[in-house]
Amino acid sequence: MKIGYVQHAPLFGEKDKNLAAVDVLLSGVTAGLIVLPELFATGYNFVSAAEVADLSEDTGGETARFLCRKSLETGAVMVAGFAERAGDRYYNSSMMVYAGAVVGIYRKLHLFNREKLFFTPGDYPLAVYPLNGCRIGMMICFDWIFPEVTRTLALKGAQVIAHPSNLVLPYCQQAMTTRCIENRIFAVTANRIGIESRGEEEFRYTGRSQITSCKGELLSTAPEEMPFMDFRDIDPELADHKQLNPFNDVLADRRPGFYL
Ligand code: ACM
Repeated sequence: MKIGYVQHAPLFGEKDKNLAAVDVLLSGVTAGLIVLPELFATGYNFVSAAEVADLSEDTGGETARFLCRKSLETGAVMVAGFAERAGDRYYNSSMMVYAGAVVGIYRKLHLFNREKLFFTPGDYPLAVYPLNGCRIGMMICFDWIFPEVTRTLALKGAQVIAHPSNLVLPYCQQAMTTRCIENRIFAVTANRIGIESRGEEEFRYTGRSQITSCKGELLSTAPEEMPFMDFRDIDPELADHKQLNPFNDVLADRRPGFYL
C-alpha cells in the first residue's frame, strides 16, 4: 500500500488558495493513503472566536467536497485537518474521506496552547477504519505527547496512524519513532511549514513531515521549510506482528492491573 503526506504552508483564512495549492501538488498522484496537515485549508493561528466561526465547516462544506473529489481522483483514503462546526461548538478535527464520501471524523482530544480558547475538546472515541486494505486510525498533532492515544489506536487494531499536524515544538518527529516502536504501528505525520504571525502569537512550524515504520524506521523525512510530498510502499500486515522476540509481545505483555 502506498502511503504518504503533503507538506505545505497554508495562508491564514485563504481557503480557496490553500485548496488550490494542494490540488496542484496532488495532480496526477495515486495512492492508498494521503495525509494533509492539521487545519490545512484555514491556517492555524486564530485570534478570535469570530474567525473560527467564519472559517469552520461541517462535513458538507467546501473542504469536505474538495477532499471527496481528491479521493476519487487519487483512489486514496484522504485524511486532513479542518475546523469543524457542530451547532454552536467548534472542534479542531480531521476527516477521513474515501471514494467520494466522508467516512469518519476525529475531534482532537488534547488541545494545544491557545486552541483551548477557541475549540471544544474532542468528544468522540478513538476509532479505526478498515479501508483500501488497511486499518487506519486518526490523531491530531499534540496528541503525540499522550502515548495513550497511539496505544488505544493500536489496541483497537490500527495498522497505520494518520497524523495531521501543525507542529511547533521540536520533539514530535523523534517521539513518533518511539510511538511506532512501542506499538509496532506505522504513522504518517503530515506537518505544515512557514511562520504564522497574528495577534500576540507567532508560530514557526517545524516541517519535517515523516513516514515512520512499525519498527521506528524513518521511511521518509520532508525538509524543514519547503512544500513537499512523499509516498512509500508499505505492507500494513507487518503492523499485526507485535512480537519483539520469542518472549515479548508489546501488547500482550502489558500489565494493566498495575497501571493507574
Ligand atoms: C499542535 O497541536 N498544533 C501543536
